[in-house]
Amino acid sequence: MKLMVTGGAGFIGSEFVRMTLAEHPEDSVVVLDKLTYAGNVSNLAAYAQDPRLRLVKGDICDAETVTALAGTCDVIVNFAAESHVDRSLEAPGQFIQTDVYGVYVLMEAARSRKHERFLHVSTDEVYGDVSEGRCRETDRLQPRSPYSASKAGGEMLVGAYRASYGFPAIVTRGANTYGWFQYPEKIIPLFITNAIDNEPLPIYGDGLAVRDYILVDDHCRAIDTALRRGQVGEDYNIGAGGEIDGQTVADTILALLGKPASLKQAVADRAGHDRRYAVDSTKLRALGWTPRAPFSEGIERTVRWYVEHPEWWRRLKNGDFWAFYQRNYKPLSPGSG
Ligand code: NAD
Ligand code: DAU
Repeated sequence: MKLMVTGGAGFIGSEFVRMTLAEHPEDSVVVLDKLTYAGNVSNLAAYAQDPRLRLVKGDICDAETVTALAGTCDVIVNFAAESHVDRSLEAPGQFIQTDVYGVYVLMEAARSRKHERFLHVSTDEVYGDVSEGRCRETDRLQPRSPYSASKAGGEMLVGAYRASYGFPAIVTRGANTYGWFQYPEKIIPLFITNAIDNEPLPIYGDGLAVRDYILVDDHCRAIDTALRRGQVGEDYNIGAGGEIDGQTVADTILALLGKPASLKQAVADRAGHDRRYAVDSTKLRALGWTPRAPFSEGIERTVRWYVEHPEWWRRLKNGDFWAFYQRNYKPLSPGSG
């Protein structure tokens, strides 16, 4: 297979590229990545000299570039997105551009090149806040943040292309993913790197919102399963099945690093903070996939990786990083949380 992997220099996309090149020696990969603040060429350093990998710096919204590259590939796997909820609350425009318009550009290119398969990486956040039970693929999409709404918008376009043109798309809806090479703005890498430096761990509100954390290689094996064994026209949830709140994430990281609980700091809650996400992954499991790493094992491996790779994350916690941090985190107002 000749794959075009968009967003392949980001966190999950780069793991997918490394996994593909390691496990499918006959495959080749063209990465198209805009290299935003979240994209990082060094995530692909292990394969920099491998002739099966080509990295192109470019935007999925640029039809000319996308169409030219699509002509050299059999399949597009779309990871490219603006992906951080807090940034979407501050500035939604780029999310709509990349996560909606960019999906349209990619599908037009795939259509013009007569690709037989297109995998769109989406998120469990499209279901919105889930007070009870676990979402099935047929449930209504009820996104509640500009990020999740832009991802749902991309999905709506995919659905319209399926219905109107018989477009051969597969959609995956993955849960909150953690692991190595994750830009340190999301809760787990932020808390690990702050704790290493004895900086406070900012916990939104009461810290009891829950997520179904899944290790990045489990998520990527699931996408690989959907790509190679899934059926076009189908959506697949991807979750580990757990429910872990923010206090537990902080306590676990502090314990692994031997740091005091006093580093936990309650801050003002995220606007529109979804309390719970939970998906049912039965449909993908029926194709033979199952998550391997329990949270206790995945978080231990992840903490160890950040301890052993300070050169990777220290240069990312630069002036721009701290400027966003200052704007984003506000003190908890008295009586709340
Ligand atoms: P990330 O922010 O780490 O990486 C995104 C990558 O996309 C970066 O390399 C960035 O440079 C690139 N990119 C952004 N805009 C682009 C554009 N216009 N053109 C080309 N490249 C562009 O994100 P991630 O956490 O690796 O997420 C990857 C995908 O998985 C996203 O679609 C996200 O919505 C989805 N997802 C993420 C999670 C999670 O917990 N991180 C869970 C489920 C689904
Ligand atoms: O569920 C899938 C989604 O998971 C992906 O689609 C998104 O791209 C990804 O960013 C992630 O979204 P979340 O909002 O769940 O992830 P985040 O790490 O931002 O927050 C996880 C939980 O931790 C959430 O309840 C908010 C809380 N939190 C987060 C940060 C960054 C804090 O308490 N403090 C923080 O500083």
